[in-house]
Amino acid sequence: MTPQSDDIQASLRELLHFLADAGADEALDEIAADRFVAPPARQTARTGEQPTAGAGLQRRQPASPAMASSDTSQRGDVAVPDEAQAARARELARNAATLEELREILAAFDGCNLKSTAKNLVFADGNPEAPLMLVGEAPGRDEDLEGLPFVGRSGQLLDRMLAAIGRDRTSAYIANVIPWRPPGNRTPTPQETEICRPFIERMIELVNPKVLVNLGGPSAKTLLNTTEGILRLRGNWRVHTTTSGISIPAMPTLHPAYLLRNTAHKKLAWRDFLEVKAKLRSLD
Ligand code: URA
Repeated sequence: MTPQSDDIQASLRELLHFLADAGADEALDEIAADRFVAPPARQTARTGEQPTAGAGLQRRQPASPAMASSDTSQRGDVAVPDEAQAARARELARNAATLEELREILAAFDGCNLKSTAKNLVFADGNPEAPLMLVGEAPGRDEDLEGLPFVGRSGQLLDRMLAAIGRDRTSAYIANVIPWRPPGNRTPTPQETEICRPFIERMIELVNPKVLVNLGGPSAKTLLNTTEGILRLRGNWRVHTTTSGISIPAMPTLHPAYLLRNTAHKKLAWRDFLEVKAKLRSLD
């Protein structure tokens, strides 16, 4: 190999690392698509007209009439997230009488564009009868593949954190604010969060845990109605108020994925988990 090809290989390796760190960790097609090349203008066979943007996309059929939307914001093959979808999500979530119904409603819900790129719905894991419920932000790649929350590296750390307070997935229930993996692990948009919020709120209401743990800032901000940063929030008891007005003590803490990158902060999460353990004991 020439020194030049060594350089090229090193640059390509760096580029791959850069892309993986940015969350682009999967190939979607066998052949790379150059998105900068303009598509050739095509004429439609019958009319001779120029196709309009998105004309080749099929509108997705609703999974059931109950899930159908009359909302005109449905364009192409995915729903455009907006207030109408959030209102529909609130109504559907309110109608779920059990966790199983909620799962079915979510599985049939086409109002969130994240569903179209995710491989699986990531509903929840663990024991819904448990007194402790933990809510993270959104599934990553491993969770998307398995259809279960917190099964990747941060999930393994979460399992160790639970073990440190004498618990595992038989004595805790685990879910996320967003039940579908955002493509490339990007941050969910505020609209996507608003559309998914009614479902996680209904899930918390149905589980009715004694204590809620918010894993990371996005979970804390969404479910505790605050704009404060997680480093200020963590370690202080807050209250999550369900839509029907039940108050659940909530402990915001650092997200396991953050702890994997900032190991010096593990001791803070450890303190928060000890608080949770003491609270659960006091409520027994
Ligand atoms: N991070 C989350 O917030 N949730 C998961 O399920 C996995 C990683």
